[in-house]
Amino acid sequence: MSTGLRVDGLRVTVRSGAAERTVVDDVSFAVEAGGALGIVGESGSGKSMTLRAVIGLLPERARVTAGTATAFGATRTLGPRGLRDAGPGHVGMVFQDPLSALDPLTRVGAQVREVCRVAGDGRRSARERATALLEQVGLPDPDDLARRYPHELSGGQRQRVVIALALAARPRILLCDEPTTALDVTVQATILRLLADLRRELGLTVVLVSHDLAVVTSLCASLTVLRHGRVTEAGTVTDLLTAPRHPYTRELSDAARALELEAP
Ligand SMILES: Nc1ncnc2c1ncn2[C@@H]1O[C@H](COP(=O)(O)OP(=O)(O)OP(=O)(O)O)[C@@H](O)[C@H]1O
Ligand SMILES: [Mg+2]
Repeated sequence: MSTGLRVDGLRVTVRSGAAERTVVDDVSFAVEAGGALGIVGESGSGKSMTLRAVIGLLPERARVTAGTATAFGATRTLGPRGLRDAGPGHVGMVFQDPLSALDPLTRVGAQVREVCRVAGDGRRSARERATALLEQVGLPDPDDLARRYPHELSGGQRQRVVIALALAARPRILLCDEPTTALDVTVQATILRLLADLRRELGLTVVLVSHDLAVVTSLCASLTVLRHGRVTEAGTVTDLLTAPRHPYTRELSDAARALELEAP
């Protein structure tokens, strides 16, 4: 199997006053083309910064100071624009907070059409593709929905729109940052199923970030564990959960098991 995305030696620092703090330190991971990799770790471990560095959308005070990314055979040094420098069609991202990923003052259909236009569609084809995308992410009556503003949607509908926005750029790699954290458990399950279906239908290479081991293992066969900005352990889900080597991975899998026991 060929590699869909490979990241080597990624380092991200954040400026605070005169000091520079390393928040992602020598992080490497790889996912085969069409595969799904989960990145787990506690809050603040550097999960979002890692994905943002790859897509080239780091917050203002953060920057990449080392690292390369290989996407479908071509290797690049990661700079401020991340893989966006590789040209369109490489990488899309579903952000942690669906409300902040959407423009509150623009109807959702117009937002999806806009991304289609940027991806090279003419006006008419952008309109058709926006409707098709809203349908593809499981929104019934996409024409009615397209006319609504983000605040007029439920949390689950909003996250589906955010996924449609990410797909509008025709990415081959989809980065998902806690795509279900803001949702209640039943809606969470339907969004995870949607991501699994889309991955299969479109042959997407997926990197899924979560602090929740159960979410990640529902979609991913391999895992990378981050702690304090570094990779502490990596391998298949089965290996990591049956024989965790690092105490932190053991804690994570114990916590996941304890939650399972609590579930009704
Ligand atoms: N916008 C920002 N400006 C400055 N520092 C930030 C910013 N966002 C995050 N950080 C810092 O970078 C480090 C890594 O944060 P990151 O957001 O990647 O963590 P995370 O693993 O995604 O956590 P969570 O599970 O809470 O989303 C943390 O120490 C955090 O304080
Ligand atoms: Mg995060």
